[in-house]
Amino acid sequence: MSLNCLSLLLIALMMNPSLITQSAASSAAADKVYIVYMGSANPAKESAINSMLKRDGGRAIDPLRTYRHGLSGFSARLSPEEAAAIADHPHVISVFPDESYKLLTSRSWDFLQELTEYNDVVPLAGPIRPGFCTSSPSSGLVIGFIDTGIWPESESFKSEGANSNPPRGWNGTCMAGADFNITACNGKIIGARHYVTGTARDWAGHGTHVASTAAGAAVGKASYYDLATGTARGGSEFARIAVYKACNDRLRCKGSHMLSAFDDAIGDGVHVISVSSAPDEVPSRSPYFLRDPVAIGAFHAVERGITVVAGAGNTGPDPASVFNDAPWIITVGASTIDRVFRADVVLGGGGGVVKGEWLTFPDLDRSPIHPLTDGSTAKEGNASYLAASDCQQDSLKREKTEGKIVICEVKGKDPTINLLTQANEVQGKGGLGMILVDDVTRRVAEYSGDFPVTVVSSREAVKLKSYLNITVDPLATILPTVTVGNYRPAPQVSYFSTRGPSVNLPNIIKPDVIAPGVSILAAWIGDDSESTPKGRKPPSFNIISGTSVSCPHVAGAVAAIKNAQPSFSPFAIKSAIMTTAFVTNNVGSLITTDAGEEATPYDLGAGELNPTGSLNPGLVYEATTTDHLLFLCYYGYDTATVRLISRVARSLNFSCPLDSSPDLVSHLNYPSMAVRLAPNQTRTIGRVLTNVASDGKWSYTATVRFGGGSTEGLRSDVAVKVSPERLCFTNKGERHLFNVTFMSTGSVDVDRVVFGWITWTNPRFKVRSPFVILGSTA
Ligand SMILES: *[C@@H]1O[C@H](CO)[C@@H](O)[C@H](O)[C@H]1NC(C)=O
Ligand SMILES: *[C@@H]1O[C@H](CO)[C@@H](O)[C@H](O)[C@H]1NC(C)=O
Ligand SMILES: *[C@@H]1O[C@H](CO)[C@@H](O)[C@H](O)[C@H]1NC(C)=O
Ligand SMILES: *[C@@H]1O[C@H](CO)[C@@H](O)[C@H](O)[C@H]1NC(C)=O
Ligand SMILES: *[C@@H]1O[C@H](CO)[C@@H](O)[C@H](O)[C@H]1NC(C)=O
Ligand SMILES: *[C@@H]1O[C@H](CO)[C@@H](O)[C@H](O)[C@H]1NC(C)=O
Ligand SMILES: *[C@@H]1O[C@H](CO)[C@@H](O)[C@H](O)[C@H]1NC(C)=O
Repeated sequence: MSLNCLSLLLIALMMNPSLITQSAASSAAADKVYIVYMGSANPAKESAINSMLKRDGGRAIDPLRTYRHGLSGFSARLSPEEAAAIADHPHVISVFPDESYKLLTSRSWDFLQELTEYNDVVPLAGPIRPGFCTSSPSSGLVIGFIDTGIWPESESFKSEGANSNPPRGWNGTCMAGADFNITACNGKIIGARHYVTGTARDWAGHGTHVASTAAGAAVGKASYYDLATGTARGGSEFARIAVYKACNDRLRCKGSHMLSAFDDAIGDGVHVISVSSAPDEVPSRSPYFLRDPVAIGAFHAVERGITVVAGAGNTGPDPASVFNDAPWIITVGASTIDRVFRADVVLGGGGGVVKGEWLTFPDLDRSPIHPLTDGSTAKEGNASYLAASDCQQDSLKREKTEGKIVICEVKGKDPTINLLTQANEVQGKGGLGMILVDDVTRRVAEYSGDFPVTVVSSREAVKLKSYLNITVDPLATILPTVTVGNYRPAPQVSYFSTRGPSVNLPNIIKPDVIAPGVSILAAWIGDDSESTPKGRKPPSFNIISGTSVSCPHVAGAVAAIKNAQPSFSPFAIKSAIMTTAFVTNNVGSLITTDAGEEATPYDLGAGELNPTGSLNPGLVYEATTTDHLLFLCYYGYDTATVRLISRVARSLNFSCPLDSSPDLVSHLNYPSMAVRLAPNQTRTIGRVLTNVASDGKWSYTATVRFGGGSTEGLRSDVAVKVSPERLCFTNKGERHLFNVTFMSTGSVDVDRVVFGWITWTNPRFKVRSPFVILGSTA
């Protein structure tokens, strides 16, 4: 250790006396909380931390949090000058402001099982219980949830079926807190820690929903007021739950709290971590260890053999919107399932039925006896037609809406209006109910309160408009929601799911997979008045949407894989999830987006989670921490930094190769492939497959298919060749290399993106990887 930060600060002060006045002038209020990140945990760093904190002469720094199990560092309130001085310390990798992140806010498992039928997968030998992943009651697997806490009284968390004691080696704890007594922990919830609100109790619902989706016990006849009725159960029904409450009741999570959660989860001995938060802003290019607590925490978890699953974000569908895109994370986008919640509109005088979707329990007559109007007809004198047709605030005239059902639209694309503000305007002006015309909102049914609401597509709205046009006294009613199954096509990539390419690194395809994330039923907190219709008891289960609902589907599947294949590394698990994913929907076509376009790997990654198939992938793209270290070198970190970040790098005396460049990331043994290709260029990348099938010899043949989005038919621009085209495996654990050669002709468009799939097939297994070719100039 050369200079400690105190001496650095003193030198800085001596060289620039104005700093003294500046820092003296900066009141404590001007100081911000910073995270000081120091790479992997090690005792030498603890003394470095102590020297940074205890500063003779200078202000002693009081750390708010210290990280020492899985990673090293602390958070503290610092002046900008202190932050800058600490950043120069040789043990410090980065110092960044402690920002706030937002959570990305069952039938789904059965649906995934049934999809098998459409995906040309040969059924596995041996019994697979329908609808969920095989997992034995003695499962010692622990999933850690970094979320809003848990409602321990939910039936989904009863410990029957699970062992009554935590698994051997478990180092976690059950922290008591407000309204959370240690008896809340049982054989199911084996650990609970909180970093906010003084309790691990969930007051928001999100954490409870997520935990029960991944690891909830089976609960028969679960429903949301008789909607979505069925058996609710987690993907890994016997996995244990460890709660890390880093997010508050308003679904906000501080970076410093999430890092503590990762640090503790690593020390406690979890096997899987599920985290579903993202920053508010659009993704920006930012080296992973500079300011991204999820990337940092996840790196250290994966280095210890823990798989980390994260939501991709809900701010789609624009390109390059994907969050949580570090290569060591399994990044999960959201899909629909084959179920819709119909709340139809019945028109008077034989006008027929208009299909609507929403969760509503209207207090209206079931016969169409209520007068119907639309926003523009009910316009307030001084409002614009556009504002009125969208039912914006103060745009409707009470005399024209009182006692009526009002049709509202979303023509103005005004970001400040949403279904709730529109319903408020209609209700405030004495309306009886609202029919919203909105192709996007329609697909994400939720409960929005007692005021009757349904949402119709613009196609269905044509019927409404012509009825209104030709009818003298138009009448209608909104029917209460009913559950409709077997909806086709499904799955579809939800509009809100974020899309690739990764802003940080186009040489890796993100998201990795999609999983059910639209209108999913799971356990809920027991006292949520907002989700409770008038005159009812609060629900035990609720229906919500988001990539944070998709994320625990994959976390549950990961626990099931780990249970079935205890020797699988996080890399093998990710490979199993990706290469077995479904690409075909329940009408036997390629999966589309909810706008009806064929989905590309930037929309769905490798495809829709296949929980059963992923238990037995046949082959895996295995990797080690060294591959991640090479990634860091290619990405731009130097040897010294990589050794600070990674304990493995330090223990191996790892050095970055001399020729490190981001394009080399394409060569890492990732289960998908992305290469940049200039006109007339040929690039060959290698991959290694490892045989994980326990039963006998398997040979595989490679096929290449182009497609995805509108890129079908670009085969004259590029050629993709797999060599060798056939691989024969004799023993479990056997590895074989193959090369993929990408060749472009002179006509390749530099702005073009070409998508495709490489599949290794035999009569039993399909091992499929998406690829992306990015046109480039050099
Ligand atoms: C915890 O809950 C149990 C059972 O409800 C109760 O008997 C006990 O007094 C509680 N302990 C505390 C510290 O509140
Ligand atoms: C629990 O802590 C002990 C002692 O620090 C450690 O050796 C062990 O590996 C930990 N267990 C797990 C599962 O991490
Ligand atoms: C229109 O007039 C109403 C009533 O006079 C008023 O409340 C409202 O704010 C006005 N709206 C606009 C957009 O000026
Ligand atoms: C309403 O009816 C008139 C006359 O029949 C027709 O010209 C107009 O296009 C109709 N408008 C709508 C929205 O259907
Ligand atoms: C790493 O380097 C140190 C000193 O340079 C040496 O003592 C140690 O044996 C090396 N470790 C390995 C795994 O090469
Ligand atoms: C892959 O290509 C490299 C050179 O690009 C070559 O050395 C190697 O033998 C090839 N491997 C296979 C399995 O074809
Ligand atoms: C690509 O090669 C063709 C044939 O050799 C040549 O005509 C063309 O100019 C080349 N294009 C580029 C961009 O180099």
